[in-house]
Amino acid sequence: MILDNKNNFNEKITDNPLLVLKNINKSFGSIHALKGVNLRAFKGKAMGILGENGAGKSTLMNILSGVVQKTSGELYWNGSLRNNLKSVKDAEQMGVSIIHQEINCFNDMSVIDNLFAGHEKSKFGLIDYKSQKKLAKSVFSSLNLNIDLNEVMNKLTIAEQQMVEIAKSILRRSKLIIFDEPTSSLSKTEVEALFKTIKDLKNDGVAICYISHKLEEIPIVCDFITIIRDGNYIGEFIIGELNEDQLISKMVGREIIEKYPSKSNKNFERIIFKVENLSNNFVKNINFELYEGEILGFSGLIGSQRTELFKSIIGLIPKNSGKVFLKNKEIILRSVSSSIKKGIYYVTEDRKNDGLLLYDSIRKNISLSMLLKISTFGFISNKKEKVLAKSFINKMSIKTTSSENIVGSMSGGNQQKVLLARAFAAKPKIMIFDEPSRGVDVGSRREIYDLIYKAKDSGIGVIIISSDLPEIIGLCNRVIVMKKGRITSNLTQKSVNPEEIMKFSI
Ligand SMILES: Nc1ncnc2c1ncn2[C@@H]1O[C@H](COP(=O)(O)OP(=O)(O)OP(=O)(O)O)[C@@H](O)[C@H]1O
Ligand SMILES: [Mg+2]
Repeated sequence: MILDNKNNFNEKITDNPLLVLKNINKSFGSIHALKGVNLRAFKGKAMGILGENGAGKSTLMNILSGVVQKTSGELYWNGSLRNNLKSVKDAEQMGVSIIHQEINCFNDMSVIDNLFAGHEKSKFGLIDYKSQKKLAKSVFSSLNLNIDLNEVMNKLTIAEQQMVEIAKSILRRSKLIIFDEPTSSLSKTEVEALFKTIKDLKNDGVAICYISHKLEEIPIVCDFITIIRDGNYIGEFIIGELNEDQLISKMVGREIIEKYPSKSNKNFERIIFKVENLSNNFVKNINFELYEGEILGFSGLIGSQRTELFKSIIGLIPKNSGKVFLKNKEIILRSVSSSIKKGIYYVTEDRKNDGLLLYDSIRKNISLSMLLKISTFGFISNKKEKVLAKSFINKMSIKTTSSENIVGSMSGGNQQKVLLARAFAAKPKIMIFDEPSRGVDVGSRREIYDLIYKAKDSGIGVIIISSDLPEIIGLCNRVIVMKKGRITSNLTQKSVNPEEIMKFSI
């Protein structure tokens, strides 16, 4: 394609843009996160924003939604040049709202209070709770959401919180809504409901900016795409103009051959881990076995209580009954650290709240699991920690300038890689990954899968809880399907396919 106009916009797109960002630069200290990036958005159309972890997608969206301010560049709204957006409120007044990659809600407040925080409906100077409730109910029903409006936000799953955020921007009647990886923790039915919502929003004339690492979603949701690589603007394309391979190579600057490592068909013989008759307030009579060298998937819709099962296995949620065995020996697990000491490592799906020390360095975050494993008086020298961190930064292509950088300032996908590095560093006997590739880009996913395969080849047992069906199917030797706290199926490799999994999920 010829990109000879000044800002390299796609000349085949002749619509009038609602938004034009030109030559945007953004620096965080010495980090030049955006280097002359352009972006357009159109009424009733969705613009996909694609790029690897750390490419600058969230930064660009944070500029557009007033969360951070650009270093230089121009913003045109409906054809007129706008001053810098100084705050989220400023952007909201212009008509932009964002559903963040990491949910930013008032955790201790109710769903309904979150929906209207700062935008309360009033009548005669008082908050009009009745009409708030009515509005909220109608938006929830259009989203097919079954969430109690009076529930406290922190009682909801990430997916439910994400849906509440979406409801919030619909209620604000925003002209442009940004979705920063909205489906990273949604399962198939929730994703379908979300896509329908986006379609309805487009029909209502709303402009959408859509970020996702799940490339199969892009042609379903988007009309156009903008590609960013390492803070640089690569170009604007119409869906269909590039096939998936071309798209990936524009994103990563190289070809990716296969998304998943090839599976072996060997028979697994030795049981390494077993759960017997486990029940708690969320799950009933759970029985399963895991073999040495096996990758066992857990599939199910939101509400299938997979996370609640594994949190109970490692002692974070009280059991009403049930036993856990490692190599035929019963083990009692009481916490994350007692589990790590016994060789069972659970990688949380909620890296921000349960996982990472966001204000600590990459080095400290990765070596934490080793410290927990050693003993109460354990000690690792800074030098050893550094060597360990550096080896994972290389192996997992973690984008950073130093192992001393603070994890909280890294991009979402890079934070996820640090969380996973910590798990591999512990060298456990059983690894349980809850949504392992949440927010990880296509190239890095393969690097993570290779590490998982290397771990299982060394004889450990791997469990993968994932809402991403292609991932479950691409990686696992066997898949257990759960529905409302019970196991509904145990599918062997031959019968693992989307239809079978869905049949037992719904
Ligand atoms: N507040 C900050 N302070 C320092 N550096 C930052 C900050 N926010 C972002 N960065 C850096 O800017 C770069 C771009 O990050 P950004 O979060 O925009 O990436 P992304 O494309 O959204 O990646 P991902 O797909 O992983 O979410 C990264 O190198 C990141 O570390
Ligand atoms: Mg991001």
